[in-house]
Amino acid sequence: VTRSLLIGSGAYLPERILSNAELAAMVDTDDAWITARTGIRQRHIAAEGECTSDLAIAASRRALEAAGREPKDIDLIVLATATPDYTFPATAATVQASLGVRKGAAFDIQAVCSGFVYAMAVADNFIKAGQHKRALVIGAETFSRILDWQDRTTCVLFGDGAGAVVLEAGKGAGTSADRGVLTTHLHTDGRHHDLLYVDGGPSKTQTVGHLRMAGREVFRHAVVNLAEVVGEALAATGLTPADLDWIVPHQANLRIIDGTARKLGLDLSKVVVTVDRHGNTSAASVPLALAEAMADGRIKPGQLVLLEAMGGGFTWGSCLVRI
Ligand code: ACO
Repeated sequence: VTRSLLIGSGAYLPERILSNAELAAMVDTDDAWITARTGIRQRHIAAEGECTSDLAIAASRRALEAAGREPKDIDLIVLATATPDYTFPATAATVQASLGVRKGAAFDIQAVCSGFVYAMAVADNFIKAGQHKRALVIGAETFSRILDWQDRTTCVLFGDGAGAVVLEAGKGAGTSADRGVLTTHLHTDGRHHDLLYVDGGPSKTQTVGHLRMAGREVFRHAVVNLAEVVGEALAATGLTPADLDWIVPHQANLRIIDGTARKLGLDLSKVVVTVDRHGNTSAASVPLALAEAMADGRIKPGQLVLLEAMGGGFTWGSCLVRI
């Protein structure tokens, strides 16, 4: 059977780091509250004029280098973002032009924090169908641009960044011992719009808008939905939590990450955590964490890695991949 092999990853974070202490000078909050409730100590913020495409391009270059591939080898770009450079064209098209990719399709995916898992599922299915051979799959965000910096309940949670992987068509025996993407599972429940949304947009308000969130409600849904979609990935492959070498979760809140790991009976030492240093970078959080753990040698070839995420929509999903 055809498998989408994950042959390289890369990450990029803007230079500027915003600490909890600096935030405490901007809104009525403090380091102790943010750390205890979220696990976040700092986040990166894009420089003025630095756009989502800039972060995506930098991460993509690193992913291509790690994979030993060149832009001419790529025939599909799927970019997950909720903070595109422009309403249109897609940020993926800007990335394509800048990298010098000339073949195939490039488009954006909008599933907020689950965006990268959605993008992996889309690229994997295109590759398995034989329509494309080598995909750049990117999660890139500049959430700092849609935060209400007066709202302490949201502005302390998010950061900017980008991560990318290269997927390449290969062969497998069709078992869970194969390398590559083994299974993907996506869900949406559009009834919860008001719990997490941006209060602007081209059609409705002709403004960009700001992120609005009922944090406690989102938290409750997140733990339930993530446990469900992780269970689906394991059931589809006949594997158990003990078979997983690593979990790379969406990095929204250390308590959600902890809760999900506990539900699976997994030790936190098998969970890649970056939320303390990156905050919640939405669609970028999973590929940022994955790239970090691959680059520092924690995640090794042959290991089984579960990616999972949940975000606005609500959307949620999982992607099980053997590196
Ligand atoms: N500093 C100090 N106090 C604060 C802050 C702050 N930054 N923000 C809120 N508070 C106050 C609230 O006003 C409230 O005060 P009150 O009791 O006087 O009304 C109190 O702290 C408790 O607020 P809660 O919202 O109940 O606190 P909670 O423990 O739920 O933590 C948080 C809030 C961190 C947002 C949590 O609910 C959460 O992480 N939810 C998940 C949402 C999330 O991660 N969304 C990301 C996008 S979707 C996704 O990625 C899954």
